[in-house]
Amino acid sequence: MEPVLQVRKVTKIFGGMTAVNAVDLDIYPGEIIGLIGPNGAGKTTFFNSVTGFYKCDGGSVRFDGKDITSKTTYQNCKAGMARTFQIVQPFGQMTSLENVMIGAFNRTSSYKEAESQAKKWIEFVGMEEKMHDRVANLNIGDQRKLEMARALATGPKLLLLDEVMAGLTPTEIDDVIELVRKIRKSGITVLMIEHIMKALMQLSDRVVVLDHGTKIAEGTPEEIANNDRVIESYLGSAYKKAE
Ligand SMILES: Nc1ncnc2c1ncn2[C@@H]1O[C@H](COP(=O)(O)OP(=O)(O)OP(=O)(O)O)[C@@H](O)[C@H]1O
Ligand SMILES: [Mg+2]
Repeated sequence: MEPVLQVRKVTKIFGGMTAVNAVDLDIYPGEIIGLIGPNGAGKTTFFNSVTGFYKCDGGSVRFDGKDITSKTTYQNCKAGMARTFQIVQPFGQMTSLENVMIGAFNRTSSYKEAESQAKKWIEFVGMEEKMHDRVANLNIGDQRKLEMARALATGPKLLLLDEVMAGLTPTEIDDVIELVRKIRKSGITVLMIEHIMKALMQLSDRVVVLDHGTKIAEGTPEEIANNDRVIESYLGSAYKKAE
């Protein structure tokens, strides 16, 4: 099977600091991949480099069989790559429905079609009761779900989630875990950055670890939880199996 995303030696340098250092990653259709690492490890910068938000300083990215290394975020979104932002970026004065319609216009120019698609995705994330609320009035949990709905409405093959569980209550986290499972079930491949290990470890097929911009490990959640280098740089021994 061909990978949906193939990242080779992707590098991003800010001034003299290498934020992402020659990172390789293959993601296959239907996978959920977790991306972890300490604060400042380069996870968000990796997303920005892969999606075209930043121009890479080295390396290449293939998406869905095509080289997209120098494509823009707009072109990549059309091609089927969607993402959420670590700091939510809603249009606060617009309603939930209107926010999600903006995503839906990626695939249609018809108002009616965008509206019906947006309604579908708002229901998918469980926010139908808040469809006509102004987004600025929603709590952070709902704003995160709404960002996911907006990204989903663009019609992605690959969805990149940047800490969608940060700041949520345990109940809201459980909702998002279920939501990510449902997204995969609907045929969308997921790459997610997450600091909430309990959630990430139960969702991910494979986990990739960045430290100081470099990939230091990749493996199943169990392999990663028992990897000495990952324990030392990030996880601690809390997830290690007792010997
Ligand atoms: N636009 C930028 N200009 C300059 N330096 C940046 C920029 N964005 C990020 N950095 C730096 O690059 C490094 C990686 O940052 P990044 O935000 O990718 O880390 P992260 O792994 O997402 O961290 P966190 O878990 O805190 O979100 C950090 O040292 C950060 O200060
Ligand atoms: Mg980040």
